[in-house]
Amino acid sequence: MEQQKLQELLSDMSLTEKVDQLLQVGGFYLEKEGMVTGPENTVGFTQEEIDLAGTVLGSIGAEKLRRIQKAYMEKQPHHIPLIFMADIINGYRTIFPIPLAQGCSFDPELAKEGAAIAARESAAAGLHLTFSPMVDLVRDARWGRCMESTGEDPYLNRQFARAMVEGYQGEQDADGAVALAKKGKIAACVKHFAAYGAPIGGRDYNTVELSERTLRDDYLPAYQEAIEAGVSMLMTSFNTLDRIPSSGNRRLLRDILRDEMGFKGVVISDWAAIEEMCNHRIAEDRKEAARLAMEAGVDIDMCTTCYSRNLDALVQEGIISETLIDEAVMRILKLKNQLGLFENPYKDADEQEEKEIILCGEHRRAARKAAADTFVLLKNDNILPLKQAAANTAFIGPHVENKMIYGGWSLFGRAEDTVSIADALRERKPDAVSAKGSAMLDNNRGLEVFDDTLDYQRDERQAAAMLQEAAEKAKAAEVVVLALGEHRLQSGEAASRANITLPDCQMELFRAVHAANPNVVVVLFSGRPLDIREITQKAKAVLAVWQPGTEGGNAILDVLYGDVNPSAKLSMSFPYCVGQVPVFYGGMHTGRPYEESMKEKFLSRYLDIPNKPLYPFGYGLSYAAFDISPVTLDGTVLIHEKGSSIRAKVTVRNTGSCAGQEVVQLYIQDQAASVARPVRELKGFRKIALDPGEEKEVYFTITEEMLRFTNIDMKFASEAGNFYAFVGNSSETQNKAEFLLK
Ligand code: GLC
Repeated sequence: MEQQKLQELLSDMSLTEKVDQLLQVGGFYLEKEGMVTGPENTVGFTQEEIDLAGTVLGSIGAEKLRRIQKAYMEKQPHHIPLIFMADIINGYRTIFPIPLAQGCSFDPELAKEGAAIAARESAAAGLHLTFSPMVDLVRDARWGRCMESTGEDPYLNRQFARAMVEGYQGEQDADGAVALAKKGKIAACVKHFAAYGAPIGGRDYNTVELSERTLRDDYLPAYQEAIEAGVSMLMTSFNTLDRIPSSGNRRLLRDILRDEMGFKGVVISDWAAIEEMCNHRIAEDRKEAARLAMEAGVDIDMCTTCYSRNLDALVQEGIISETLIDEAVMRILKLKNQLGLFENPYKDADEQEEKEIILCGEHRRAARKAAADTFVLLKNDNILPLKQAAANTAFIGPHVENKMIYGGWSLFGRAEDTVSIADALRERKPDAVSAKGSAMLDNNRGLEVFDDTLDYQRDERQAAAMLQEAAEKAKAAEVVVLALGEHRLQSGEAASRANITLPDCQMELFRAVHAANPNVVVVLFSGRPLDIREITQKAKAVLAVWQPGTEGGNAILDVLYGDVNPSAKLSMSFPYCVGQVPVFYGGMHTGRPYEESMKEKFLSRYLDIPNKPLYPFGYGLSYAAFDISPVTLDGTVLIHEKGSSIRAKVTVRNTGSCAGQEVVQLYIQDQAASVARPVRELKGFRKIALDPGEEKEVYFTITEEMLRFTNIDMKFASEAGNFYAFVGNSSETQNKAEFLLK
């Protein structure tokens, strides 16, 4: 529809009809079923609100959404179509690894392909928009939603934010436009704006206290990248920033997001976040909350009646201008128009297509490869890969049979579609010995609402018997693969944990198995980094597989038996213990920097643990071995004028006995500036494949733009001075060369 027509449509709409476009209701209000991903709306909705809401979340299915759309448009006074939205975070029905795992691949193309497959499957099921990518920077493993992010680093998160937006929406044309109406594409929504990943204490929804400089240099870049990639919508976060809830933060949403960052799309609140400004005690009531949110620039009210019950009155009373409403409605109409819904309100909803492409072989193969490429080999004392012939391997642990190995946000994933380790063994090693060994959890604390599906220790005698069986089978085996880890519900939204260890019952199993047979390979499932000191000390190998998704079991055996050589690197540091958290590689020097060897007292250190994490950002082993030559620069002076650059070079050689991939990383250290600067910052990476004995030169181009930061005057600029370029295979590389910016 032409813009002029949209304008005429808007002009013809009543105020009530316009206000209803700003309401989003859960699909379960229309069809008595649909995903509930937030607190129930305490005041309910009137039938009119449900009938005239502008968008719907949480429902999916071609036949169902066609039926809902048809009925809705018949009632809607101008036959304006709905937008169907849902959380497709890492796959619709073919579930990919959680985003935290995808970040470990250091392969944005992997995420782009996963997003494109998710778009194809969910579009065929009638969906128009996904609440993804989640780009919140995460540096606190206590926070349950680490799993949804691609990690602790601004630069890495930028690459994945762009890749996912392009995977869902398609790439921009020369004018920056995106063809959302194209078959198999859905609109993307970047979230949660802003800095939701830094709650005090790692406790979900808690206060965020960040300096503006840290917000701008660390937390905003990935949102900026999503905006530059053409993301269609942005979701506000639950938290306060500078003691202002994001949904009522006018400076954040209008001055920074729209004026500075250039976002022109739709802004939606997170679930009930407008109404929750009453809980934050900055709004006396829902009417005040509605005023604050509309003035701040929130277009859609997700799942509360703040807007639908108060905006009319606020306009009639002259408290807010109808122009604000019109601007919000126009952004929503434009999105509906970009999706082609005025011409085809059903978009790609097609039952036949749904049957053909969902979980098809091509998608499963892609998910299996992606999963294997996200596994991080943390330790390997020459025990992996398992010898194919080694029949005498026992597979033990509560995750061997577990089919729910997809993340907590895989709302539409199904256990019956998922390949567990046991499923993969039945196909690949039918004579493999296995035992459960222990329950998944010690108890149901915090997860009581899921009690009927939870696997926790309920019977002491049964537990003792399982342990006994496991120890006997371990003793009789040559090697034990021990599949341990978090339950999928122990991470995700409202799943913060103060202790990030494995449950006692699993640690008891680990100790019993290790006592029976020291040749233990731990396969670790989790939605976050965990405290695995004891495991990593005693096991011969540790493979972090996160929550690998639909093809997880196959991918795990592919790596354990060497069909795939692990190549992933940590996108988030594994803390030595929870006392270290938040811990990340890019901290500041401080006035009393500490190195392990120092003995002085008055230094920035702990008395009882090291400063360094157990495993750092960018770290991961391979079955191959790689030698990286000293870094050389083709110049040592970078001139401030545009276009000047320096090339850093290393030569990487595979000195191992099998083919593999190495992630070569470039970090820059600004040695001195007008404000404190991180000890180093990731500014580039290359994932390269090498056969045994093969070597390749790897180049990085260093530019002045790369050196910019928010300076003492709050300006984003570089400053002349000395820098180091580090090039290596983790954030702890000491392979450096110095250069000067003049
Ligand atoms: C939830 C989450 C958000 C999600 C939304 C809709 O509360 O915070 O990430 O997209 O509600 O399900």
